[in-house]
Amino acid sequence: MTDELPIGCRLIPLDVRGDERGRLVAIEGASDVPFAIARVYYVYSTSPGVTRGLHAHRALNQFAVAVAGSCSMLLDDGVHRVSVPLDDPETGLTLPPMVWHEMGDFSPDCVLMVLADAPYDEADYIRDYDEFLSLARA
Ligand code: TYD
Repeated sequence: MTDELPIGCRLIPLDVRGDERGRLVAIEGASDVPFAIARVYYVYSTSPGVTRGLHAHRALNQFAVAVAGSCSMLLDDGVHRVSVPLDDPETGLTLPPMVWHEMGDFSPDCVLMVLADAPYDEADYIRDYDEFLSLARA
């Protein structure tokens, strides 16, 4: 599935520091993810059947990890659509600008953590799919 992902989208295995007590993952900006981390947010307690996202970003780089439970991330570069399962706290997905994305299939226990390289900025969002398509195909 990885080689079908839009350019810039990549599943990245994280280093796990596990011992007999359990497992631990640390994510450092500019080394474990390909940008300096400016923001962390997480989505949880998602109601059944909900689809989130439904937008692309003009400039934002993100990195998504299902730290608990599972969900799916639909990725659309304006030409191809591919759905990626996120179900592993030891693997993250890079999400570059200009990729339309939709998250769904949330398990009740899903905690989807997202790291981002900039503070929240509504002006960076493209929430209209037709606008996204014309920008992506330009
Ligand atoms: P929204 O972008 O619609 O979430 P999603 O793309 O996951 O469906 O964000 C929901 C609300 O939260 C909206 O009012 C904006 C706000 N928000 C912030 O204030 N900061 C953030 O970092 C994010 C991601 C959202």
